[in-house]
Parts: sequence; structure tokens; C-alpha cells
Amino acid sequence: LPNIMSSIAGNVFGMKDVKWLRLNDIIFPKNIVKSFKGPKYGIEGIRRIFKVKRPLIGTIIKPKIGLNTHDHALVAYNAWLGGCDIVKDDENLSSQKFNKFEARLKETLKLKEKAEKETGEKKGYMITVTAETKEMLKRAKLVQDYGNEYVMVDIITIGWSALQTLRNENFNLVLHAHRAGHAALDKSNKHGISMKVIARLARMIGLDQLHVGTAIGKMFETKKEVLENKEVLVEELYGLKSVMPVSSGGLHPLMIPELYKIFGNNVILQFGGGIHGHPLGTLAGAKAARQALAATLENKSLENYANTKHFIELKAALRHFGQNQ
Ligand code: 3PG
Ligand code: 3PG
Ligand code: MG
Repeated sequence: LPNIMSSIAGNVFGMKDVKWLRLNDIIFPKNIVKSFKGPKYGIEGIRRIFKVKRPLIGTIIKPKIGLNTHDHALVAYNAWLGGCDIVKDDENLSSQKFNKFEARLKETLKLKEKAEKETGEKKGYMITVTAETKEMLKRAKLVQDYGNEYVMVDIITIGWSALQTLRNENFNLVLHAHRAGHAALDKSNKHGISMKVIARLARMIGLDQLHVGTAIGKMFETKKEVLENKEVLVEELYGLKSVMPVSSGGLHPLMIPELYKIFGNNVILQFGGGIHGHPLGTLAGAKAARQALAATLENKSLENYANTKHFIELKAALRHFGQNQ
């Protein structure tokens, strides 16, 4: 992939005579697509892990990097207990001295197991392995050895080559792709490389899940652009598995009805501040998200559902996040 990108999206961007240039899309021929691995798990593989058909609810531990290992793991535990299916590290967490990688992995997996026993639900932990390539592979191997199903990686900052290397190792790990930095390439509609292209390349290489924007949260992309990004992940592409779209960034539980309309069932909806910022805390925030999802799936308004079911968490979320809408 680095060679392809050097050829079709390389020097030409730097020519004096080219004022603006935007790579909006690439259609690859079959033999090129088939020369890449594509997702190992994709949507079907992820569904096999969680055994539910509804949208999956996830959170990002906040504050982003300030917590020590014990507190970080505890926030994850509360999120799972409240009803999150998935918990992920934030994109800039690595192996800081107050929260070392292996200690975090070990402690969080212990609490993941406890939360699974207590809730009877399957839970996922997406630990960030983003690092220099060899270190990243070492960490991913460690995650596999500990028996976890997931790793997360920042696909733009590690680069295409490192990403291919990670996929080609063929670990038994679902690969979650965070796209931090993508907007340096795709935010301008005059110049750069579109998110659609990034999504295509990520699918060809073989990521299983990818952030595609929110349409209604804090991310800048329009609904049309988000739907285009999503389409690239799921449309027929010479038999490659579909990538699970992830919507994340500035979302809170009251947005679930709208998000469901936009994305349907095959999506991971992630709420960072939207869960930990709940006035009653993380556990209540996660409960409110699941209650809002249940209401949405039953086609009921959040207000009615919260009142008839006496859901204090959803009621508090309606009061708190409702003010900001
Ligand atoms: C480069 O890689 O920098 C260019 O290909 C320069 O080649 P040129 O000197 O022929 O422009
Ligand atoms: C992410 O990594 O997707 C963001 O940190 C989302 O966090 P937020 O829901 O608090 O914006
Ligand atoms: Mg983040």
C-alpha cells in the first residue's frame, strides 16, 4: 500500500502548478483488492463474539490519560456493569509510567471477567497497542496471549505499512481502528484525501472496525459524508468481509434514536463524556445508554419509556444532556 499511495497520491500533491488537489475516491481492480487480506472478523465475526443483533454500546475511558491503572480499570468495570458491551482506551493512551500497558491489560481483563459473570453478558476491551511497529506487535501478541479478543490502533499515525504488518501477523484479534489525525487529510473539501479513501484502504488492509464520524455529534462531517464512509465499509467488494462502522465523538445517550435512524443495527455507538459525564456517574451513564437503546428498539420516546419504566438513570440523562441539546 505505501507504494500504491506514493504513486497515486504522492509527488503530485506538491507541484507548484497544482493549486488544490483532492483524492475523493479510488476504485481498485479486483487483482489489487484481492492482493490484500481484508478483515479477518468483520461484522459477522464481531456478532459471533457478542451474540446480539442490536447496535453495540461502547465507551472510551475518560479522562483520556490521567488515570492510574487501578482507577482506569475500575471505570471500565463500572461501564461494563452498567451495560456497555465494549470499553476502549483513548487514542493517546500508551504505556505511560502511571498506567503501564501490561498492568492495565491484566487488571482490566480481570474486571472484564468479573463484569461478564455479574451481568451474564459478553464484554469487550479494546486496548490501544499504537506504538512503534515492533513494540506494537509485541503488545498485540501479549494481548493475544492473555486471551483478549481485541486491540485498538490509531491507523493514521502508525501509517499504512505498520498497519499492514499488524494485519499480516494474523493475530486472533479483532482490530479496532481509531482515525486520529484523519482530518489533516480530509477536512478540506478542496485539498487532501477523503475519509472515503481512508475507509477503503483500511478495509482492504483488514481492519475490523472503523470510526466513520457521527453526523450529529462533535465531529465535522455531514450526514451524507458519514453515510458514504459507512457504505464503503459494507458494500460488496470482491467478497471482502464488511467492516463494522463505529460512531464516536461528542455523543450522549439522548442521541441514540437519531443515531439508530442514521446507522441501523450494524454499528458501535460510543459515548465517552456522554457516559462518564452523567450526573450520577459512569455506571448510571452506561445504564442510561442501554435504557435509551431499549426505548429506541421498541420505538418508544425516551421520555415515556423513562417514566413508565421508572428508569432514574435515563430520567437524569434527559434532564442533564437535554439542557445542552
Ligand atoms: C523526487 O522524488 O523528489 C522527484 O521525483 C524528483 O524528480 P525530478 O528531479 O526529476 O523532478
Ligand atoms: C474517541 O476516542 O472516540 C473519543 O475520545 C470520544 O470521546 P467523547 O465521546 O467524550 O467525545
Ligand atoms: Mg478519543
